Amino acid sequence: MSTQINRQQAAKRSAELAETLRHHEYLYHVKDAPTISDAAFDALFHELKALEEQFPELLNPDSPTQRVGGPPLPGLETVEHTAPMLSLDSSKDETLLRRFDERLRKALSGAKIGYVVEPKLDGAALELVYEEGRLVRGVTRGDGRKGEEVTVNVRTIPSVPLRLRKDPRPVPRLLALRAEVIMLASAFEALNERLIQAGKEPFSNPRNAAAGALRQLDSRIVAQRPLAAYVYDLLAIEGGELTTQWEILTALGDWGLWVNPEPRRMATVEEILAYHQNLEARRDDLGYEIDGIVIKLDDVELRATLGATSHHPRWAYAFKFPPRREVTRILGILASVGRTGRVTPVAIMNPVEIGGVTVSRATLHNREEVARKDVRVGDKVRVERAGDVIPQVVERIDEHSDEHSDDPDRERSEPFQMPETCPSCDTPLVERGPFSICPNTFACPAQLVGRLFHFGSRHALDIEGLGDETATLFVQTGLVKQLPDLFDLTPDQLLPLEGFAAKSATNLAAAIEKAAHVEVARFLFGLGIPEVGTTVARDLARHFGTFVAIRAASEEELTAIDGVGPRMSEEITTFFADSRNAELLDRLLSKMQLIENEPAPASAETEDLLLAGAKVVFTGGLPNFTRQEAKAKIEALGARVVSSVSKKTTYVIVGEDPGSKLAKAQKLGVEVLDEAGFESLVRDR
Ligand code: IVH
Repeated sequence: MSTQINRQQAAKRSAELAETLRHHEYLYHVKDAPTISDAAFDALFHELKALEEQFPELLNPDSPTQRVGGPPLPGLETVEHTAPMLSLDSSKDETLLRRFDERLRKALSGAKIGYVVEPKLDGAALELVYEEGRLVRGVTRGDGRKGEEVTVNVRTIPSVPLRLRKDPRPVPRLLALRAEVIMLASAFEALNERLIQAGKEPFSNPRNAAAGALRQLDSRIVAQRPLAAYVYDLLAIEGGELTTQWEILTALGDWGLWVNPEPRRMATVEEILAYHQNLEARRDDLGYEIDGIVIKLDDVELRATLGATSHHPRWAYAFKFPPRREVTRILGILASVGRTGRVTPVAIMNPVEIGGVTVSRATLHNREEVARKDVRVGDKVRVERAGDVIPQVVERIDEHSDEHSDDPDRERSEPFQMPETCPSCDTPLVERGPFSICPNTFACPAQLVGRLFHFGSRHALDIEGLGDETATLFVQTGLVKQLPDLFDLTPDQLLPLEGFAAKSATNLAAAIEKAAHVEVARFLFGLGIPEVGTTVARDLARHFGTFVAIRAASEEELTAIDGVGPRMSEEITTFFADSRNAELLDRLLSKMQLIENEPAPASAETEDLLLAGAKVVFTGGLPNFTRQEAKAKIEALGARVVSSVSKKTTYVIVGEDPGSKLAKAQKLGVEVLDEAGFESLVRDR
């Protein structure tokens, strides 16, 4: 991007970036299903950060650069951490690491600097609290300030002691620790094998598997997940004192907690670089995922002098590894039909191991992406699995110009052609932008399989045993011709199916029956309406309370909800307006009992904000803000922007040429702010 960017362009771009980043944060943190590489995310993030530095007035408190993590999911209790669990400043760039060291030395002029350097474990961060040596709480990182209470799950992790050892070191009254929950590569592979066998979706990497397990509502399932927790940092201590990181690690080991064997004490950047290189070379042999190293100032007292920015401490730095890439060959390109009818080209590759995971498929997204990368069957490609992402084909390797090529004269095959008709139902495909869609929504078997699988998936009805393979069997055998048929299945019908025995047939039938009693949010998500993910489904369920109300909502009513844009509301109303959907829904609902009107827990993101719960009305134009900017600023403080003034309105913000709302506010005694008042309300927050 050019450096000559004006404020207006910057505002537009930063809003776009924030939106995109938020979307990917959601996919990554909330859904555990990222769609872009870390590298791509980082690039967008740094672009936004640079813009915000250049135009500080664009910086919103809700900017993705300003937060530590994702919001907690419903179902688990949200609790405050003993001390904030900050994030780490990080880069892959040696110069930035050197700058970190220089900055730190300058700020601590004269002091003798010692570091502890550790692997950066790629797992799920967790707070562990011990009182009088007993484990009392385990809390996920959440947004850094509050997380989800997962004590029952943490208790199932074998490497987490339920009581600390008192010998050789006395146990403090209170000990709050930071740990990383990981899944060893061997255990991860075994788990995925089991999931695949059971017809379930495997996890894309050990971190997602660990994070997913930690947030499971059923701790018995967690107990079957081979988790481990490395403890590496102190959040709080009472009744004892630890003065250096090295002493912290030693003490944690003494207390019987699992500490990583790799940390070393060092004094110079040169040593740190050598450690980084050495660890990277051994990365595949460690048996667990790491994505870099963490450099920490050893002396705890000196850390306090340095302090922290709003999201990371100045005394620690993560020096990351470059993303992992491997070269392999494309054996074939399949056109795979998803539940929305979208036909995705999928590269089938010579299996290749990337960071402990065997990769044999990678999405090629759409026909334009295939053409852009010009990948064809037989080509050699570079594939990236950046720790946590669905494998991506990064680029084709040109074997003609590659001197090391094993076959430089190889003839290339023809370019990939999207089929003209659906590979499942033979209906002619239609093109929508870069995507090819099978329009046979209600009769295409592949789409029904996809919908069925999604309906039973973890964030929807969570039907244990209804995996991809089982869904395919149901559709192939004609047992399920439409979604509602699912609830008519009996154990007798399941028993003859391949892979079923008396017990599994009874269990699945029981699981389906149980799933008929489900929360509105899960049901809504399970319908697979385009654009409606778990967060939106939850917000809609909270806002409207009942499914009937959601179904009847107009586009305007939907758009009025935070986080619901015009495209989304159009998708929702279009879905419900379709008479065939209506018919299916009526049939579904006649077989189900939805759990409605659940009490709405306060949003973890907003409840502590300055204007949490406030209702604000704008009238007249503000010379220095567009309405959208003003709305974004006030919403970032937790307020809701509403259109009409009532006694419940907190502020009416009056610009030029105000309408009748000003008079109404004065009549009702609602506080009125002019633009200056508005600015001081939102400034510096
Ligand atoms: S220290 C205040 N040390 O990396 C800084 N973090 O954004 C405390 N991580 O999610 C963090 N290994 O959970 C620290 N040896 C290590 C780590 C580590 C992994 C995680 C951490 C956080 C992320 C950094």
